[in-house]
Amino acid sequence: GDDLLVLVNKEYQLPSTYAPSDLVSICSNVSNIRCVNNTNFLARSILIGDLQALADAAINDGIDLSIRSAYRSYNVQGSTYNHWLSVNGGNVSATDRISARPGHSEHQLGTTLDFSTNEISDGLGGTFASTRASKWLADNAWMYGFVISYPAGYEHITGYSYESWHYRYIGRENAQEMVNSGMILLQYLRSKN
Ligand code: DAL
Ligand code: ZN
Repeated sequence: GDDLLVLVNKEYQLPSTYAPSDLVSICSNVSNIRCVNNTNFLARSILIGDLQALADAAINDGIDLSIRSAYRSYNVQGSTYNHWLSVNGGNVSATDRISARPGHSEHQLGTTLDFSTNEISDGLGGTFASTRASKWLADNAWMYGFVISYPAGYEHITGYSYESWHYRYIGRENAQEMVNSGMILLQYLRSKN
C-alpha cells in the first residue's frame, strides 16, 4: 500500500491491517484549503508539499477548495459502504457503483482526497462537476501529482460512476506520464504493475 502506483480497485484489495505509517493532519499542515467542519482529515506526509502548491495555485486563480474526505481506514470504509447501502435501500449493485467495499478503496492508501468548494456550500456529489473548482482541478491537479480516478465515460472500465471530486496522488512525474499517455488512472496503474 505504500507504493504510490499500487493498484486498488474492485479486483485488487489492500489487507485489512494496512495503514500508511506517515499519516499527518492535512489542515494543520496545509493552508489555503479548508477542511469541512474542521475535521482532522489525515493524509500521507509524502503529498503535503504538492497539496500546498496546488492549494496556493487554486487561491491564486480565485478558486475555493475544501476537503470532504481523505484517509479512511479499512473499518471506516466498511461503515462508509454500509451508509451508502442504507441510503440506496439495500440495493447492492447501485451502491457498488458509488462506494468501494472495505479493502478496495483508494482512501485506505492515505493518498486520496475528496474535494468540494464554497460554490456548492461544501457539498459532495454530482453538483461538484458543474463548479469552477471542478473544472480547475480537471485542468490543473495533475501538475501537482493528483489525478482523477473515476472520470466521466469510463464506468465500464472502472466500475464506478463519474466522481469529479475524487483525486489520487501519484506524484508529479507519474501524473505527467499518465496525462501524456492518454490513459485513465486504472489503465495507467495496470501498465505499471
Ligand atoms: N467512492 C469511492 C469509489 C470509494 O469509496 O473509494
Ligand atoms: Zn473519494
